[in-house]
Amino acid sequence: MTKIYAYAIRKDEEPYVHEWKEAHKDVDVDFTDQLLTPETAELAKGADGVVTYQQLDYKADTIEALDKLGIHNWSIRNVGIDNIDLKKAKELGFKITNVPVYSPDAIAEHAAIQAARVLRQDKVMDEKVAKHDLRWAPTIGREVRDQTVGVVGTGHIGQVFMRIMEGFGAKVIAYDIFKNPELEKKGYYVDDLDELYAKSDVISLHVPDTPENVHMINDDSIKKMKDGVVIVNVSRGPLVDTDAVVRGLDSGKVFGFVMDTYENEVGIFNSDFSNKDFPDKRLADLIARPNVLVTPHTAFYTTHAVRNMVIKAFDNNLKLIKGEKADTPVDLDKEF
Ligand SMILES: NC(=O)c1ccc[n+]([C@@H]2O[C@H](COP(=O)([O-])OP(=O)(O)OC[C@H]3O[C@@H](n4cnc5c(N)ncnc54)[C@H](O)[C@@H]3O)[C@@H](O)[C@H]2O)c1
Repeated sequence: MTKIYAYAIRKDEEPYVHEWKEAHKDVDVDFTDQLLTPETAELAKGADGVVTYQQLDYKADTIEALDKLGIHNWSIRNVGIDNIDLKKAKELGFKITNVPVYSPDAIAEHAAIQAARVLRQDKVMDEKVAKHDLRWAPTIGREVRDQTVGVVGTGHIGQVFMRIMEGFGAKVIAYDIFKNPELEKKGYYVDDLDELYAKSDVISLHVPDTPENVHMINDDSIKKMKDGVVIVNVSRGPLVDTDAVVRGLDSGKVFGFVMDTYENEVGIFNSDFSNKDFPDKRLADLIARPNVLVTPHTAFYTTHAVRNMVIKAFDNNLKLIKGEKADTPVDLDKEF
């Protein structure tokens, strides 16, 4: 009987593992909440493939441990493959799949909700109400329909974000280094980032974290923006020079900041510091500000997205095992 072994299955993923198992009674599915390491590889003994998801590096020793067990079909439930020693995996004949798109709506919706909350000054009002201060002024909102929303990056997530903001009635403009023909026909694109910065009341980033994009939001770009701009980063922390945004917030140039991803988030986001010293002063300051909405890289974290990550990874793994073409293979020849 075909066997798939899954690592690092969280409680919120378990129902979807069971769902897949129910739908594939001819496959033996087993799982653990432990990460895949050279030591835990042994747990997969007898399996034809493994399914994993972790930030911890998959180094040569981990990959060799799977190889020793004769396991070469490997499906990750997330997008990123930068923590895998791909050279070793290729050398040992592994086939790898990832899940590059699991729910653009999850991330786009979060960006839209948070941007709207900043415009309405909801955090300020929530804090006032919690203290039983029920006065209106001076906590007045700005309506989304009155804003020009500039979208940087019109890929999977950026496009959904554009639709949602238009649903609110905003004027949407966009910039992408590769123009989408459909969007171009509809006249969304401005010529360059400077034009987008100059015209937008809300600027939302939906681009990847490539070396060219690091700190694309910095003192210079902020200078080019409108006074009272709202900056939204639910993409990747390194896209934003956080100190520059703090300076913008301090001067009043930046009205609000939505931050789901942070330059120094690794080891901090998805950890509990409620009874411990907080390790990052700048982050603590941002969290405390009434016009900054920090979330710990949870834009993706919805039942819909988590289900897709699990189901798509198992589907991919079974295809690899059967020698079929997986839906989203990682091209090991291209990666290095
Ligand atoms: N917060 C979360 O939970 C979460 C979850 C998934 C993805 N993300 C992030 O969201 C971002 C967008 O993901 P996606 O799936 O929409 O990607 P995508 O590849 O579908 O689209 C990215 C777009 O950005 C464009 N682009 C790249 N560099 C650019 C630049 N300098 N200026 C203008 N356009 C540029 C590309 O041409 C492409 O059209 C990525 O950074 C991704 O890592 C965040």
